[in-house]
Amino acid sequence: MNHTAPHAAHDGAHPASHPAPDDDGQAEILDLDAEVLAEHIASITAWLPVEREPCHIVDLGCGTGAGTFALLARFPGARVTAVDASESHLRRLREKAAALGVSDRVRTVPADLDVDRPELGRPELVWASASLHHLADLDRTLRRVHDVLAPGGLFAVVELAGFPRFLPAGAPRERPGLEERCHAALAHHHAEQAPHRGADWGPKLTAAGFTVAGERTITVNVDGSRGEAVGRYALSSFRRLRSSAAHALAAEDLDLLDELLDPDSPRGILRRGDLAVRTERTVWAARRA
Ligand SMILES: C[S@@+](CC[C@H](N)C(=O)[O-])C[C@H]1O[C@@H](n2cnc3c(N)ncnc32)[C@H](O)[C@@H]1O
Repeated sequence: MNHTAPHAAHDGAHPASHPAPDDDGQAEILDLDAEVLAEHIASITAWLPVEREPCHIVDLGCGTGAGTFALLARFPGARVTAVDASESHLRRLREKAAALGVSDRVRTVPADLDVDRPELGRPELVWASASLHHLADLDRTLRRVHDVLAPGGLFAVVELAGFPRFLPAGAPRERPGLEERCHAALAHHHAEQAPHRGADWGPKLTAAGFTVAGERTITVNVDGSRGEAVGRYALSSFRRLRSSAAHALAAEDLDLLDELLDPDSPRGILRRGDLAVRTERTVWAARRA
């Protein structure tokens, strides 16, 4: 397991073939992503072309439960089996389920999907959001999902092309393009560790025997004025960028990053009035015959 691997923004998990470490930094980012994008995630679950209301749903690589809780709300008669390699994410998910009074509708299953074959039952809906691209053996997982799904059941794959952006073009004034330079510094690492991120999943799903019933891309642009979670999301993400990309950045960029991260600096990120969360999510809905 590579404990020093760079990771940032929504997609901070340690990728491929090893259990993800228990990582509270990532958990915070996943929770903020779920909070800021709640309406968008709800619009995706509302769009899913299910033939009938599912009774049993599996959330693969569930993280702290962004998809799990959106699906429980969308399908009030369903229960969710939430699978992840991170015990701490699953613990957090269980705590949230208890706080929401839905513990009896959630079962958590710790498993490394590249290695283990957890018992998943016969779900009518399998959901995998921002998780498939982490897996080393995709074909194995796609085949497994195809086999466990009930006939006519749906596999919803949600993926993001890249990491969310928070600063407007031309910012910060002192050194425009800082955010893009941070991401560029990590691009090589991400291309190596998660080569399927940003892929077209339609052909992969078809090759695994599914029929793609629909595909939809949603553009997210949540202005900072919509709530303080946007600022916290930006702050957490820049913290991670700072620690991951430091080795490849110019000293002037690092100084500016430190100022952005300094809560007492007048140039601190939480004092900026121009933050927004800008990203895209694409969902493929694939049916088992
Ligand atoms: C970017 S997060 C997405 C979490 C959640 N689906 C969401 O949309 O917020 C990716 C998740 O995949 C999990 N993961 C990565 N590799 C895995 C593996 N081999 N087996 C199981 N889970 C894995 C990570 O622990 C992490 O929770």
